[in-house]
Amino acid sequence: ARRLVVAVDGPSGSGKSSVCRAAARRLRAAYLDTGAMYRAATWYCLDRGVDLDDEGAVALAVEDLPLSLSTDPDHQTVTVGQADVTEAIREARISERVSAIATNREARALLVAAQRRLVDEAGFVVAEGRDITTVVAPDAQVRVLLTASAEVRLARRGLQMGGTQSTEALQRQVLARDAKDSTAVNFTEAADGVAVLDSSDLTFEETVDALVSRVESVR
Ligand code: C5P
Repeated sequence: ARRLVVAVDGPSGSGKSSVCRAAARRLRAAYLDTGAMYRAATWYCLDRGVDLDDEGAVALAVEDLPLSLSTDPDHQTVTVGQADVTEAIREARISERVSAIATNREARALLVAAQRRLVDEAGFVVAEGRDITTVVAPDAQVRVLLTASAEVRLARRGLQMGGTQSTEALQRQVLARDAKDSTAVNFTEAADGVAVLDSSDLTFEETVDALVSRVESVR
């Protein structure tokens, strides 16, 4: 099969993961969730008692991170060594500390290299994160920045968390994480050649349709 890379970046709560997974399913493409790799690295550091503020120790841990990640959109499993961390990496204790990995230069370089290998192996892939359109796969045939207003992103994350979180807790999870992440990568503006897809006024299905039709137009 021909190599076709669909690169999607965006802030948390933009709906990136579910939109990209659904689009990959419809296109029969692989799906690469790069955020899961930063999350798995965070899990590993916490599990091994690595001080997340110690940049050198974090880089060393990420160097021998025994990560295995499925790129099948129907079976998203993430394992670290013998541990299935698919669920654990979504916990708030991980989300609150993942920026320590994201802002670690050496750790980023290692994860970016691993992501490039996974993209190459997959051939036809929808890859999503914060720096896919700019760093991991700037040569992708389809490059999209998926955005939504802060209000909409907070509301979506609130629904995702079961409506039990206070507005302050949601703001801490969504906006504060974006602020920390954006010191490492710029995902708030589209780079040259990157199309902005604003999902604020779109339903989930409409957003998936918009992404799928962009891919079909270059196929
Ligand atoms: O997308 P998700 O919320 O799962 O990403 C978790 C974290 O991983 C982000 O908050 C960010 O710190 C980091 N990340 C990154 N670059 C990527 C993907 C994720 O820095 N390409």
